[in-house]
Amino acid sequence: MNYTVVLPAAGSGKRMKADKNKLLLELFGKPIFLYTLEVFQQDSNCDAIWLAVKEQERELIENYVKRYNLTKVQGYATGGTERQDSVRACLEAIPPCGVVLVHDAARPFIDKEVIANLVETAHTSGAAIAAVPVKDTIKKAENGIISETVDRNQLWMIQTPQAFRYSLMLEAAQKAHNDGFMGTDEAMLVERLNYPVAIVESTYENIKMTTPDDLIYGRAILESRLQEEQK
Ligand code: CTP
Ligand code: MG
Repeated sequence: MNYTVVLPAAGSGKRMKADKNKLLLELFGKPIFLYTLEVFQQDSNCDAIWLAVKEQERELIENYVKRYNLTKVQGYATGGTERQDSVRACLEAIPPCGVVLVHDAARPFIDKEVIANLVETAHTSGAAIAAVPVKDTIKKAENGIISETVDRNQLWMIQTPQAFRYSLMLEAAQKAHNDGFMGTDEAMLVERLNYPVAIVESTYENIKMTTPDDLIYGRAILESRLQEEQK
């Protein structure tokens, strides 16, 4: 099942505490966002890649895209103040398609099988998001004192990709914008239309490069994958 992917890449990476957009930081000599792009370049079901970028980083990113021969990159949108603005800018720029996937450029370790399951589910039911079961015990606290232990069996840690029928996602993004509603993921914008969103189980490796310790995990994941390939 084919799809178009939208990659928000217009953040600044404040929590990474680097002196530049964290996506430009290198893992084994290659900027993080290129690992993400290569997953989609190599996925035969991916028809097109669109990126939301900061205007001042556009040329730099375009040059990397050319140098790494990422031929599926079809266009760029100018990112906004919030991630949600960047995603909407991309959604408004892309040609209409069947299923659109939204994926953080900062998650380079996404699994191809998870992508396929998401696209399949979004195609049949309209909306599907990647998630993993919560591993730890989760408690609520008020003023430092536990008020409740939450039933872990119902809890999921939500990731991207998030896959939707294109018309549904565009409507949800534009309605949120018109209503001044800010969500923390795309699914929230669809949920508020009372549309059911399915969960597709993903992998714990699909981390978002967010804080400096994630660079350590990132290198470890790449090293273990390299060792697997050499077996
Ligand atoms: N993003 C974006 N536009 C924004 C903010 C974020 O396109 N205005 C992108 C980031 O580049 C990243 C993804 O959304 O690929 C996930 O966001 P996050 O991990 O929060 O990245 P940053 O916002 O860059 O990091 P921070 O919140 O630490 O500043
Ligand atoms: Mg952010």
